[in-house]
Amino acid sequence: MKIVIFASGSGSNAENIIHHFEGSEITVAGIFCNVEGAGVIERANRLGVSCVLFNREEWKTGNRVDALLASYSPDLIVLAGFLWLFPQRLLDQFPHVINIHPALLPKFGGKGMFGMHVHEAVVAARETETGITVHWVTEKYDDGAPIFQGRCPISPDDDAHAVADKIHELEMAHFPSVVEEVLKDIQPKS
Ligand code: GAR
Repeated sequence: MKIVIFASGSGSNAENIIHHFEGSEITVAGIFCNVEGAGVIERANRLGVSCVLFNREEWKTGNRVDALLASYSPDLIVLAGFLWLFPQRLLDQFPHVINIHPALLPKFGGKGMFGMHVHEAVVAARETETGITVHWVTEKYDDGAPIFQGRCPISPDDDAHAVADKIHELEMAHFPSVVEEVLKDIQPKS
C-alpha cells in the first residue's frame, strides 16, 4: 500500500514514518511540500523519497498538483505538519486523509493553531496535561473524527519549549503505529 505525506516543516514525523515502514509492504511513495527550503525536503532527498514542491496557486486551482498526486495513487494521505486546508475537491478523490495535531482536540485547534503557537496557548491556559490527536481530515481545520489521542502531564514549571519536547516524544512514539493501524482498515487500491 502507498502513503503520500504532506509536510511543510522540519519533517521529523515524515522521516519517522518512512523509517517505520522500511522493508515492509507499505511504502511512502512521495512527499508533497508547500514551503521552499523546508527541512522535510532535505530529509526526503537524503532518504531517497521523491518530493513535490508546490505553491499556493497550484493548491488553490489544482493545476499540476492534483494530477501529480493522482499519479502516486495513494491509499492513504498523511498530513504531518501541513498547515493549509485540504480542499474538498481532493477529499472527494482521496477519502482517506489523516492529520496529526499537537494538542488534545477539540482543545487548542483551529486556524493559526500550529507548532509553538499551540504549546504557548496550552501553557498560558495553565493546562495540567496536553497531548497529540490523530484525526480524519475534513475541509475544516482540525475538525474530523479523532482516531487516536496520546497524553502527557505538564508540570507547573514547564514552558512552551518543554511542552514541545514532550509532544515531539509522543509523536515519535505513536504516529507511525497509528498510521499502520489506519491502513489495516483501508481496502488497497490495486
Ligand atoms: C508536528 O508537531 C505536528 O503535530 C504539527 O507540526 C509539527 C510538524 O513537525 N502540526 C500542526 O501543528 C498542525 N496544526 P515535523 O515537521 O518535525 O514533523
